[in-house]
Amino acid sequence: MAPPVGHIRWCSAASFLVICLLAVPSVAIYCDEDDCYDLLGVSQTANASEIKKAYYKLSLKYHPDKNPDPDSRKRFVKIATAYEILKDEATREQYDYAIAHPEEVFYNTARYYQAYYGHKTDPRAVLVGLLLILSGFQYLNQKTRYDQAVAMVKNTPAYKNRLRALVLERSGGTTSKKKNSKQMDKKVEEELSKELNLDIKGAEKPRFWNLIGVQFILLPYALAKLFLWYGSWFWRYQVKKAPYSWEDAAHLTQRALRVPVDAWSSLDESMKEDLVHRRLWEKGNLENYLTEMRKESKRRR
Ligand SMILES: *[C@@H]1O[C@H](CO)[C@@H](O)[C@H](O)[C@H]1NC(C)=O
Repeated sequence: MAPPVGHIRWCSAASFLVICLLAVPSVAIYCDEDDCYDLLGVSQTANASEIKKAYYKLSLKYHPDKNPDPDSRKRFVKIATAYEILKDEATREQYDYAIAHPEEVFYNTARYYQAYYGHKTDPRAVLVGLLLILSGFQYLNQKTRYDQAVAMVKNTPAYKNRLRALVLERSGGTTSKKKNSKQMDKKVEEELSKELNLDIKGAEKPRFWNLIGVQFILLPYALAKLFLWYGSWFWRYQVKKAPYSWEDAAHLTQRALRVPVDAWSSLDESMKEDLVHRRLWEKGNLENYLTEMRKESKRRR
C-alpha cells in the first residue's frame, strides 16, 4: 500500500512560507539593523526624561523642514521610530528583552507584531488569507481540469455508444423520432450519464477534504498517520521480517519502476503480477529487468 502522503508536501511548503513571513521581518523589526539607543545617543540605562530630551534635540536637528537633505529625512524617521519604541515602558522592556535574547527570534517577532502592527498585519491573518487564496486557485484549477477531462470522455465514441445503448434499453427499444422529444432526450441523457461510471483519468474531482486550507489544518493528523504508516512498515518488514503483502509488493514495484500511481493502476493484472513476481525493488533484479527490456526493444527495432 502506498504511504498516506496526501498534500503533506503542499502543506509543508505553506508552513515554510509562513515561517519565512515571520522570520524575514524579524531582521527589520524595532529599529532595523540599528540600535534604538544608539540612534537617540543615549545609554541603555537612560531614564525616560533623558530619552525625551535626546529625542527633542535630535528631531530639531534633523527635521525635514530645517534639513532638506534626503539623508537627514531618513535619519529623522529612524529617530522618531526609536523614540516611539523607547518612550513606552512596555515596548522598551520588550526591546530590551529582544536584544538580550536574539536567539528567540520567533517569540520576539510575535511580540513586536503584537505591540506595533497587531492591528495592521497579524501573521495569522496573513496565513489564513494565503491558505484561502491557494485553496481557491487549487479548486478552480482542479475543477477546470476535471470538467475538461469529463468533456473529453463524453466525446469518445465508446462513451456515446454506451449511452445510446442505455437510452435504448430504458425506452424499451422504441426511440421516439418526434421532433419535440429532442430536448427530453437531452435531459434523459444527462440522467443516464450519471449512471454510467465515467472513467476519468488524470483529473480528480475537486473535493473539500483535499483543499490545501483544510489539509493544512489537518497536517498534524496527516503527519501522525504517515508516521504510523512508516512505523508499521518498519515493524512488519524490518523487525519481524514478514514477507511483503501483495499490495505492499505492488507499491514497491511501482516505486522501483518509477511509474506514476495511476499509470500503474491502469496496467492489466497479469502484467502487474509478472512485474511483482520479479521483485524489482531489489537492485539486481531491477538492473536485470531493465537490461532485458533494452535488449528486447533493440531486437524489435
Ligand atoms: C533622569 O536622569 C537625570 C540625569 O541622570 C536626572 O537628572 C533626572 O532627575 C532623572 N529623572 C528621573 C525622572 O529620574
